[in-house]
Amino acid sequence: MVETIASLLRRSAALASVSDTPRLDIEVLLGHVLQKSRTYLFTWPEHALSEDEYRLFEALFERRLRGEPVAHLTGSREFWSLSLSVSPATLIPRPDTELLVETALQLPLPESAKVIDLGTGTGAIALALACEQPAWQVVAVDAVDAAVILADTNRRQLGLLNVDIRQSDWFAALGDLRFDLVISNPPYIDSSDPHLQQGDVRFEPKSALVAEGRGLADLETIIQQAPVHLNNGGWLLLEHGWQQAQAVRELMQAAGFDRVETRQDLGGRDRATLGQWTDSA
Ligand SMILES: C[S@@+](CC[C@H](N)C(=O)[O-])C[C@H]1O[C@@H](n2cnc3c(N)ncnc32)[C@H](O)[C@@H]1O
Repeated sequence: MVETIASLLRRSAALASVSDTPRLDIEVLLGHVLQKSRTYLFTWPEHALSEDEYRLFEALFERRLRGEPVAHLTGSREFWSLSLSVSPATLIPRPDTELLVETALQLPLPESAKVIDLGTGTGAIALALACEQPAWQVVAVDAVDAAVILADTNRRQLGLLNVDIRQSDWFAALGDLRFDLVISNPPYIDSSDPHLQQGDVRFEPKSALVAEGRGLADLETIIQQAPVHLNNGGWLLLEHGWQQAQAVRELMQAAGFDRVETRQDLGGRDRATLGQWTDSA
């Protein structure tokens, strides 16, 4: 039987049990198989798939039915204005994290600011900042080898020369380097959080998601280590869970940061906290 774009789009109902966005998932998978935009799918609903295209679609559809994230099936995800390769080695970049990029771009930083992205994963934050601010010098680190390789692949695909990607346990491999901005979306989910057993998150590594101490341990480590790596007047900017804002503000204030404040995402939830470091006289 010949399958057309329209007939395959009608299969979205079958995905409703594993996805909140079944129609969009099918559109993305079909677009990936046909190497066409979503506009093409709406314009040519009667286009028939070749046998090979149909076989590939079927295989991806079956994997999606088993819960695998669409981004793992297509191998890429849009973040900011960038198309990034993704893999099971690290987090699939989330739209929420664009709040961190937006906030960073509004900070009063030097024209050729030195920036470090801790736990870079796909490189999402570092690459978006480097792309927006070509004069910034961005260092990006991750503890996981495969994430470092992935981020560097993305860097090369985007042709960005102002990003240096390295392996490091937070600041450990950075000696006494100092920055104008330390930015991070670290793991911050508590290991008992039931969301870890649901949806796409089940296919992402715990190393990217889970932190000790009710999810606060990595945030606390970064807050404590950041001052010796910040220039006078430099900023620390962290993503966190929407219920962690007060704890993060208290940790930053206790560590000696000034102008500590929390920013909200589009849904009005507290998702990013920043503070400024001033060297004591
Ligand atoms: C929540 S993911 C964020 C990935 C990416 N920055 C983003 O926003 O999409 C956290 C990242 O931190 C990395 N990570 C975890 N522990 C780390 C450590 N001790 N030092 C450096 N990176 C670490 C993980 O491998 C993962 O890539």
